[in-house]
Amino acid sequence: MTRVAVLKGGRSLERGVSLSSGARVEDALERLGHDVVAVDVGADLLERLRDGACEIAFIALHGPGGEDGTVQELLEVLEIPYTGSGVGACARCSDKVNAKHVLRDAGLPTPDWVAFSESALRELGAGNALGAIVQRLEFPLVVKPASHGSALGIKFARSAADVPAALVAAFSYDHKVLLERHVEGRELAISILGRPAGEPEALPIVEAIPRGQDFYDFAARYDIGATTFECPAQLAPALAARAQEIALAAYSVLGCYGFARVDMILAHDGEPQILELNPIPGLTETSLLPQAADAAGIEFDELVERILESARVRSLQAH
Ligand SMILES: Nc1ncnc2c1ncn2[C@@H]1O[C@H](COP(=O)(O)OP(=O)(O)O)[C@@H](O)[C@H]1O
Ligand SMILES: [Mg+2]
Repeated sequence: MTRVAVLKGGRSLERGVSLSSGARVEDALERLGHDVVAVDVGADLLERLRDGACEIAFIALHGPGGEDGTVQELLEVLEIPYTGSGVGACARCSDKVNAKHVLRDAGLPTPDWVAFSESALRELGAGNALGAIVQRLEFPLVVKPASHGSALGIKFARSAADVPAALVAAFSYDHKVLLERHVEGRELAISILGRPAGEPEALPIVEAIPRGQDFYDFAARYDIGATTFECPAQLAPALAARAQEIALAAYSVLGCYGFARVDMILAHDGEPQILELNPIPGLTETSLLPQAADAAGIEFDELVERILESARVRSLQAH
């Protein structure tokens, strides 16, 4: 039995999803016989952890604060072992621009892009370069904030006329945004799970199939029924193996640990293009990593125990 603090909630815009992930993890930990301390993360986090005499923190936070290395750094200082990726990997993955640089430098496929910061627009007149940028990337473009998940602040721009409004929307979420080439293809999510002893494994691929065609509305995307998910995705074995190999390489080059989910588009030319890595993917009833684990014969409780075990292994290795 281990005394586990489940960190959930927090103040990010993904608070709701995190509360669901956290609640489900708590139930699993209790069934596994652990002693659970539920912590809705706030200004009293340090006291809660200290008073709770927690041995391990299970981080079920999503979005800025919980997934970007902030909480991980605090836990390092407190010398409390925690689940999932370390500070560096979280920091790299949670900024899509930084992650894409790491991927491109490693020769891994990610759609071409140009990043913009608010200060480049304000102080360097970067807005005047917009014409050249859109010419290089071609329409349609995807405009997104560098941080955040759950498709928050993401807009498609079909023509130059759509770009200013899309930029304004993205800038309302972050001071850094990226314009990315739109990739036409199939949307795949590949979850990676660490093995307590041995190399991480890629779980069966989940394909997100939108109901509507062409560009779909992101608000609608997370509504029940707007997207169907197929796991394992129907892919030729060689194609699936290649996508999994690329996902594993991305996980490794970004320095992830324990578990993560790689989002990609399998372009019509057969090339997987990595959009992003989520160091703490959703763990709710409908989330993709638990679905993928289930398809691999790993039930939710076992998944949680494995993630916990990898945190123990890392802390033992560090000492
Ligand atoms: N370059 C792109 N080409 C096609 N679709 C994209 C592209 N970028 C994002 N999308 C769509 O937007 C969704 C969310 O984008 P993603 O980069 O994964 O951000 P997040 O999940 O963090 O909000 C993707 O799952 C995909 O449907
Ligand atoms: Mg995504």
